[in-house]
Amino acid sequence: SLSPSTLEIIPSALLVIDPQGKINTLVKLEQNAFSDQQLEQAALNRVPFSPGQLITTHLGPGQLLIPGFVDIHNHAPQYAQRGLGQGMHILDWLSKITFPNEAKFSDPIYARKIYTACVDGFLRQGITTASYYGSVHAEATKILADICMERGQRAYVGKCNMTRNSPDFYVDNSASDSLAETRECISHVRSLDPEGRLVRYVITPRFAISCDEETLRGLGDIARENEDLAVQTHFNEARQEMEETQRLFPRFGGSEADLYGEFGLLGKRTILAHCCYMDGYEMEKIKRLECGVAHCPISNMTVGGGFMAAPVREFLDRKIKVGLGTDSGGGFSSSMLDTMRQAMIASHAREVMSEGKDKGLSIAEVFYLATLGGATVCCLEDKIGSFEVGKDFDGLVIGTEGANQGIMTMVEANDTLETVFEKFIMTGDDRNIVEVYVQGQRVKGQRAPGEQSMK
Ligand code: GUN
Ligand code: FE
Repeated sequence: SLSPSTLEIIPSALLVIDPQGKINTLVKLEQNAFSDQQLEQAALNRVPFSPGQLITTHLGPGQLLIPGFVDIHNHAPQYAQRGLGQGMHILDWLSKITFPNEAKFSDPIYARKIYTACVDGFLRQGITTASYYGSVHAEATKILADICMERGQRAYVGKCNMTRNSPDFYVDNSASDSLAETRECISHVRSLDPEGRLVRYVITPRFAISCDEETLRGLGDIARENEDLAVQTHFNEARQEMEETQRLFPRFGGSEADLYGEFGLLGKRTILAHCCYMDGYEMEKIKRLECGVAHCPISNMTVGGGFMAAPVREFLDRKIKVGLGTDSGGGFSSSMLDTMRQAMIASHAREVMSEGKDKGLSIAEVFYLATLGGATVCCLEDKIGSFEVGKDFDGLVIGTEGANQGIMTMVEANDTLETVFEKFIMTGDDRNIVEVYVQGQRVKGQRAPGEQSMK
């Protein structure tokens, strides 16, 4: 993506990734003219690789290389409950389905099992960066961060803060314990990855309903003391949630922007999930404070009670930062391709509802939201989200021909690259995502036997 509405498709290029996983060179070529030897020489001219470090590769027939997907809102402990309770209102769904499920993460063995499946499953879907809500448990959240490091996924990981309106079996002991455990998790994540190259902590008050004022204020203090940390929460998701929030915090007159703002939780590193119901005041306020929106079009239309997705066109028009979240498990799918398609479908419904004012999203726009848009919301736009010299190489090799490559066998010989790309976005699935790289390291996919590892 060059901008929210412009895509550049490069038919032939040379890309050199240095041993730290950064893009060193991106040159457009007239045609795919390099032999293996020439490719090797061109790379060696750019970066002094030591013996064994240099691997050269040509994309195969019908293959494309695209930036990795950035899923800026999802819940790792809901991985095994995806698809349950569709159609329920949010607070009922939380108490009947989600809290009993997330309570199981008090068991570290169970947490390791599900979190391993979750991180592997996301990588299989080409999600190279994810912003994860953990459960309320500090130990399980540390395990989630460990697994992201082990598996090589770029991630934000946060323990959910929940000090009230939660069942006895699934709640923080007290505000002070909740804050102390948050600090403990921050230290753990920093010790794993001191420079935050791959995994970082994200401050995660679940939502205002489940946090008392001491907790919200304490988390705001932590955010202020740690300017590098992102913050994430649920925001104006559904009427039932908004009414309950207003009942608990009447002094904010129904404005969640005023509420979270008062506690110091809104800033340029804040990721606000959903934002389905936004008046002009709230939009302007989150824009002024440089918050980003995680648009979750699947869960918006399956869980929560609104069954209408957020006004993304308006966010784009107002230049509010926006990216996509699978929100799995409220969202039934952890595929960013499914999420892009649903974003498009929901935007067309909004176009009709707004009598043509809010135009539906294009392929270029949903792709932007799934890559550079999400990276921007996470304040990682200098690092990931597109292929540019100096950024880390987070990329996906997409196969569009041959056996076992999904439904993409419908590509025809005279299809342009634009057409192949559009067919992949609209009809592809994880079978088309044949290799996945994060920071230059391959995290999914097979190459020829005997080929050196990139590690
Ligand atoms: N609001 C508070 N918690 C949640 C959650 O787990 N999922 C969704 N969709 N909304 C929430
Ligand atoms: Fe959510």
